[in-house]
Amino acid sequence: MAEKERGGFTSKFGVLMAVAGSAVGIGNIWRFPYLAGQNGGAAFIIIYICMVLLIGLPIVLSEFSLGMAAGAGPIKVVEKTTGKKNSPWNLIGYLSALVGVLLIGYYAVVSGWVLRSVEVSIEGEFMTQTTSEIRESLSEFTSSIGWPIFYGILFLGISSLIVRKGIKNGVEKWSKILMPALFVMMILLCINSMTLEGWEKGVDFLFNPDWSKVTGRTFIDALGQVFFTLSIGMGVMITYGSYTGKDENMFKSKGFASIIDTSVAIFAGVAIFPAVFTFGLEAGQGPELVFVTLPTVFSQLAFGNIYAILFFSMLSIAALTSIISIQEMLVTLAEDKYKISRNLSTLISFVIGGVMVVACAASSFAFDSCDYLTANVFMPLCGLLIVLFVGWGMGRKLLYNTFTADGKYSTKIFSIFLFLVRYLAPIAIILIFLSGLGII
Ligand code: PHE
Repeated sequence: MAEKERGGFTSKFGVLMAVAGSAVGIGNIWRFPYLAGQNGGAAFIIIYICMVLLIGLPIVLSEFSLGMAAGAGPIKVVEKTTGKKNSPWNLIGYLSALVGVLLIGYYAVVSGWVLRSVEVSIEGEFMTQTTSEIRESLSEFTSSIGWPIFYGILFLGISSLIVRKGIKNGVEKWSKILMPALFVMMILLCINSMTLEGWEKGVDFLFNPDWSKVTGRTFIDALGQVFFTLSIGMGVMITYGSYTGKDENMFKSKGFASIIDTSVAIFAGVAIFPAVFTFGLEAGQGPELVFVTLPTVFSQLAFGNIYAILFFSMLSIAALTSIISIQEMLVTLAEDKYKISRNLSTLISFVIGGVMVVACAASSFAFDSCDYLTANVFMPLCGLLIVLFVGWGMGRKLLYNTFTADGKYSTKIFSIFLFLVRYLAPIAIILIFLSGLGII
């Protein structure tokens, strides 16, 4: 059987760590804190959590169920579930491929900055630099082009070595090691944060909403962040679902993975903002929050260097398990579509990713476009198609059987899930889209 040869996850813990590993990434530790910082802290977090529950989680569940029911990656799901070869729903597969290609280079470039920050922290450079010196040296680095390309491709290379090994000995094995390490580092950083003078101010910022900063843009940013952080709207969860055995308590395990993802984002805020306030720095710094502001904070802490190494290593781990999932999706897609070997498809994805790294490192226009187009346009669009297909196209019975493992789990939740997937999630995505375009 072809399905058997595909291999797959061998334990429930492995699936959980891989799904959480994909979800927890630069999005949680770099993107989330700066978006929250710019959009009024707690107010953004409340909007974001509502969207995770009403839109994000239903899509995670839809994608996973779809992949599991089909036993194939995004390019083949429609054919495998409906038997139709040429269906307009196949757009799901093509959009996934497009998002994967746009995302992988951008993600590797940012991950490269993280690797470089690990190196700088190990060398102890942050400890002797002022904020403006740190900013200058970062911008010197990013504008040198050659170095960001080097680090980005290095990162992609590490990911390729893991993905090449297949699910069991690649993604599963490494997620089970790396994710627990990440949790331990996160806890240490939060404990450190509690000892700082700015603790109360930081916590107040994170948990006391300032609604005056909320605009239409806040909703778009929050929706984009939900897609980005949960790795949805590009077939990653479809792919992981396709490698998962049928006896899965879907709601429980994906619910748990989403809780882990949201918690890590909030803990990242807890680790970062008290430190920022302790030294009177700006919370609404934007993208440089983690790469400039935070090292400044570390340089002023006792044992700051150790925290810097810890923080950036944690971020590298988070980034690695995420980029692995992006590459895994592309590799599965190529394997399914062209029936080529894993080695060859990994090599092809490495080359395509490498080209995208060069583009994103060399041009800030390419970099910004990849960020904006994936999170705020194509992922929501692909997510919309996925919920519509799962809700209306794939057949209620097949969905029910996959979601509940043939009536074993979460049978009552199924109707709420179906309602969200059929009506609420698509309508919400469309409304937020239209308001983003200024139409409503
Ligand atoms: N979820 C990852 C993060 O938060 C990014 C990602 C998006 C990974 C899409 C895979 C697919 O950083």
